[in-house]
Amino acid sequence: MKKKINSLREIEKETRVCTLCALKSTRTQVVPGEGLATAEIMFIGEGPGKNEDEQGRPFVGAAGKLLDQLIESISLKREDVYIANIVKCRPPNNRDPLPEEVATCWPWLEKQIFSIKPKLIIPLGRHSLARFLPNAQISSAHGKAMRTLFKPTANDLLSESPIKIVFFPCYHPAAALYNGSLREVLFKDFRKIPKVLELIEKEKQL
Ligand code: URA
Ligand code: SF4
Repeated sequence: MKKKINSLREIEKETRVCTLCALKSTRTQVVPGEGLATAEIMFIGEGPGKNEDEQGRPFVGAAGKLLDQLIESISLKREDVYIANIVKCRPPNNRDPLPEEVATCWPWLEKQIFSIKPKLIIPLGRHSLARFLPNAQISSAHGKAMRTLFKPTANDLLSESPIKIVFFPCYHPAAALYNGSLREVLFKDFRKIPKVLELIEKEKQL
């Protein structure tokens, strides 16, 4: 157990000084992600915004406040889960990350996933969903659980066995900030999470 925690903190530390893609020149701070090293649930957003870039922490702006409320709505706290992003440095002016930036950053997230081995990954929004499940559409995939076998692709992970992970995509909290009906859908989807975890635990059909 100790080793697992060390290794996740080690990955976060290495990420903080990463210079592998062009976003290194425009970022203020890397946002590796934060949370429990043994978390059952990982939330994965798209990339840091202005506040995250300034603080070096994920989801700390307005969308982050909503994510906190959503997490609390299922009787959990931020400290009980792990929160990360597809790219760990802010793209200038919040533009979409470029495919090569996403591809270059991917091994960091993969290492975090293989260290934490969460039961459930919750991609937030269509960009995050697209990276994990390229054929899925957020409008039809949100609020539905999908069992997968998650295979490593990063060079230093190739000796790892694939892990069983359930995906449960949700809309991005930022999209729900000024859209009341999307906000309702988001809370409604979150209400299903405890049951999904229970079914995973019992290896029952989702
Ligand atoms: N939006 C994201 O996708 N990630 C963050 O960390 C903050 C806002
Ligand atoms: Fe490194 Fe990812 Fe930041 Fe690019 S976005 S510099 S790959 S941490």
